[in-house]
Amino acid sequence: MAELTVLRTPDPRLRRKAAPVRDFNGTLKKLAENMLETMYAEDGIGLAAIQVGVTSRLVTMDLSSARNHPRVLVNPEILSREGRVSHREGCLSVPDYYDYVERAARIRLRVMDLDGQAREEDCEGLEAICIQHEIDHLNGKLFIDYLSPMKRRRLLKKLGKLKRRETAPVL
Ligand code: NI
Repeated sequence: MAELTVLRTPDPRLRRKAAPVRDFNGTLKKLAENMLETMYAEDGIGLAAIQVGVTSRLVTMDLSSARNHPRVLVNPEILSREGRVSHREGCLSVPDYYDYVERAARIRLRVMDLDGQAREEDCEGLEAICIQHEIDHLNGKLFIDYLSPMKRRRLLKKLGKLKRRETAPVL
């Protein structure tokens, strides 16, 4: 396994739309393994392939507190949504920023596994929130897109400062 580099906003590659997975081969399994390793190393609960520069509809997740329940979602698709819930979210591609986003409280999901086997399931709570966040990534959308224009401006200014600091010479 190998750890992958997670893209950070405002990297334009985060804005691409991912294509459905059609080949359920060893390359896909390898990518899923590497994404899981990266997600654990970065302490995230979810990671979309777009975030590591791959435009495939592939997501890894682990919502367990013991971090021992890895899940891989291939071609996830929301069939229906119900209710509203507001939860504080963060994202590996938007370091050190957390804010409330309103999403559907319950979703009906259609998803495939690494062998291309499809199933449907009902999700709620953090699981439903995380899946909606990750599917947004697959469509080139970030959770900060839901913020008010004022909050967004403030955040982008802050991210700009971070970037300047990172590129300053290290003495
Ligand atoms: Ni994210």
